[in-house]
Amino acid sequence: MDNYNQIFENNRKWVASKTASDADFFKKLAVDQDPQFLYIGCSDSRIPANAVMGLEPGEVFVHRNVGNLVCATDLNVATVINYCVRHLNVKHIVVCGHYNCGGVKAAMQPKDLGILNPWLREIRDVYRLHKEELNAIADEQQRYDRLVELNVEEQCINVIKIASVQQKFEETGYPVVHGWVFDVKTGLLKDLKLDFEKILRDIQEIYNLRDTK
Ligand code: CO
Repeated sequence: MDNYNQIFENNRKWVASKTASDADFFKKLAVDQDPQFLYIGCSDSRIPANAVMGLEPGEVFVHRNVGNLVCATDLNVATVINYCVRHLNVKHIVVCGHYNCGGVKAAMQPKDLGILNPWLREIRDVYRLHKEELNAIADEQQRYDRLVELNVEEQCINVIKIASVQQKFEETGYPVVHGWVFDVKTGLLKDLKLDFEKILRDIQEIYNLRDTK
């Protein structure tokens, strides 16, 4: 698809199809949003968040970056998470990675990648934390796939370290944090079935931010 003007034609057709099935679709959409999900995924063009989850506009708040990272010093992701937790009261926060992720692949190369170095350092840190497990995998593709999964798990832990997430969960039992991997070869989502409450309890030994006093 390289026809710029085609986008606006597509957009008009999309508006027509939405209003054909519900004449008030955009009137209702304009009132407010009440998404139950925050999705944090990779910017890769092959993973359209709403489409793979089967969700309509208004049903999922989306944040994407290269490698689906949740860095403590990234004000962008911090703003998204705090807004979703404190104001939108989302029930679920999903970190979704994907196999064949270019960001993860780049991070696996031990060389200078210029401006990418500080961002990919986060993924290289994940490799270092899990070096023994990863180095024991002889097959390179399998090692790459496993790093994708471990990166999702570590980014979920980074979400759980955030004060607003811990405080809101203490008050309401939500949000629950989930780790997923999207398989670009099949289109299927895999739930890594992380034990959110166990991770929360474990990390609170060090990162307990429940109390503001
Ligand atoms: Co990617």
